[in-house]
Amino acid sequence: MQKKYLMTPGPTPVPSEVLLAQARPMIHHRTPDFNAVVRECAEGLKYVFQTEKSDVLIFASSGTGAMESAVANCFCPGDKVLVGYNGKFGQRMEQISQAYGLDVTVLEYGWQQVVDPADIAAFLQENPDTRGVIVTQSETSSGVLNDVQAVGAIVKEYSACVLIVDSITGIGAVDCKTDDWHLDVVMTGSQKGLMLPPGLAALTVSPKAWRAYERSTLPKFYFDWKKYLKNLEKDTTPFTPAVSLMIGLAESLKLMRAEGLESLIARHARLAEATRAGCEALGLELFAPAEGRGNAVTPVWVPEGIDGKKLVSTMKNKYGVTIAGGQDDYAGRIFRVGHLGYFGDFDIITTLAALEMTLAELGYEFEPASGIRAAEVVLTQ
Ligand SMILES: Cc1ncc(COP(=O)(O)O)c(C=O)c1O
Repeated sequence: MQKKYLMTPGPTPVPSEVLLAQARPMIHHRTPDFNAVVRECAEGLKYVFQTEKSDVLIFASSGTGAMESAVANCFCPGDKVLVGYNGKFGQRMEQISQAYGLDVTVLEYGWQQVVDPADIAAFLQENPDTRGVIVTQSETSSGVLNDVQAVGAIVKEYSACVLIVDSITGIGAVDCKTDDWHLDVVMTGSQKGLMLPPGLAALTVSPKAWRAYERSTLPKFYFDWKKYLKNLEKDTTPFTPAVSLMIGLAESLKLMRAEGLESLIARHARLAEATRAGCEALGLELFAPAEGRGNAVTPVWVPEGIDGKKLVSTMKNKYGVTIAGGQDDYAGRIFRVGHLGYFGDFDIITTLAALEMTLAELGYEFEPASGIRAAEVVLTQ
């Protein structure tokens, strides 16, 4: 038997409290018992999204469902939108916007660059009829953290333009102040910082986003936000919900509240810092730029002469530690260590130890144990 460690930025490990809650016998969803679950989930999500002004809607879908719903519910065909992206998931928002027939302008950055809010400001100044700005807060493919607070301060000046933020790997790992930062739609998925299996998505809808909804003529049915809102007001859902996942969500939200948002984000920041310190001590180069490193995932360049795919497969097959490889152009060239959700100090130490053992086996030269030693320094500060 080999003990397994899941060190990816989604799906992420699920705490036993949450697993056990999901294993409870099935209940019917049109019952007071389930109404209480819906209420707990809605209230708990408002806490993690840091919002009192926005409604929080929950869908039985993966994160991409919430992304698609944001486009379908906020716009009319031909609406002008700006998508700023620096990775695979931001690009997906461009693809969805194209699929729905929007007039899409793209601010495309390299995967090692941050989205520059000044470019968004300049675009809006020249195109004040823009109906939406779409940005990814925590870009999982590149590990880059974009400054959505700065973007919020710009977009709030345009009363007919909504700011849509993909925080699918941001929520629960980095600060995301939905109300204070004027974020109109913020999305997350269950298999990330919420510490659940995949299958649920949630998003916030601000009063400004509801105004966009009222004018929107794009087709929608399963993801029609108003259906969810009307049902939420009665502590229920429009369609058969993912009952077990929502029972699990109520449990994971309890854990998140007990830790407290500030401590939770601080824990993620520490684990990210320890991972970075460990990799750098091994002589490895970090992928994300210093001015925009998130807490959810640490991407690292595969060193010269080492086979990146072999590195990932050796860690998994020989040592039981699953990390993620690079995507698209960076497949085989970078590896990504996830530390989003249910992670602690020893997950990082274990991963760095497995990384050292793998690198040694693949012929990379470094001082043995230097990675874990550097991580321990961070973790004992
Ligand atoms: C930043 C980001 N956006 C969107 C998605 C897509 O979510 P899903 O795969 O749940 O549809 C992911 C998934 O990894 C992500 O990390």
